[in-house]
Amino acid sequence: MKIGIIGAGAIGSTLARDLVKLGHEVRVANSRGPESLAKIAVATGATVVGIADVVKGAQLVVVSIPEFAIANLPHNLFSGADEDVVVVDTGNYYPDVRDRRIPALDAGAIESQWVSEQLGRPVVKAFNNIVAASLRDKGVPAGTPGRVALPVAGDRAESKAIVMDLVDTLGFDAINGGSLGESWRQQPGTPSYCHDLDAHAMKRALADARPERLAQYREEALARARAVLAARAKA
Ligand SMILES: NC(=O)c1ccc[n+]([C@@H]2O[C@H](COP(=O)([O-])OP(=O)(O)OC[C@H]3O[C@@H](n4cnc5c(N)ncnc54)[C@H](OP(=O)(O)O)[C@@H]3O)[C@@H](O)[C@H]2O)c1
Repeated sequence: MKIGIIGAGAIGSTLARDLVKLGHEVRVANSRGPESLAKIAVATGATVVGIADVVKGAQLVVVSIPEFAIANLPHNLFSGADEDVVVVDTGNYYPDVRDRRIPALDAGAIESQWVSEQLGRPVVKAFNNIVAASLRDKGVPAGTPGRVALPVAGDRAESKAIVMDLVDTLGFDAINGGSLGESWRQQPGTPSYCHDLDAHAMKRALADARPERLAQYREEALARARAVLAARAKA
């Protein structure tokens, strides 16, 4: 597949490296331009391009940037993209810890639905609830006991099927996470979030998530993130 990746950080560069290894034609862009991505090009084997070129001709585009940066993407970014392009959102909202406040999300909007509105395209939510180190190191062949499972949520069945297939080829069990409206079940702090669960446990964790606890899930995720940052600052 021709794949564009927006964001060359922990998740974007890991996906770039692994998707190149799988034989995909991968282009990567950030906000600072291809000159700033020379090391990423060497490390991943992907082609580095300007942001305007990353979606052109792509069959699938992964958006993997901080949530607040979504609003900074070029306004017409997807205007030249294929009508059927599959857009994957790996994002999570960490207000004040990393992200500037986004009023719609603070008011309870579902994160990937907000992203979809900003981009003007349907999105599939995937790869948001696994830490980059696990994504890099824990992929194994299908059928391996304890294989880590990743949920895939979205409203277009064909797009979800493509992303679920990609998840599997990357070494993880793909779980149907339901519609984009249900993707809050895999947001930060929920039972499914970043615990490297197998398929059985992931399905149970998604089912166990409670909508009335959404604000609490976010607070718990923020508290954990603050603790990690504090420990790093001390070290
Ligand atoms: N790290 C994890 O373990 C993890 C796990 C699951 C999901 N996620 C989520 O995935 C997303 C990416 O996380 P990450 O940890 O990979 O981020 P990261 O390491 O901080 O990298 C962010 C990347 O986005 C680029 N970027 C920032 N603003 C941009 C813009 N306006 N246009 C284009 N590129 C832009 C940055 O490059 P420039 O600043 O040079 O443009 C950088 O390459 C976040 O929403 C995060 O919550 C992260």
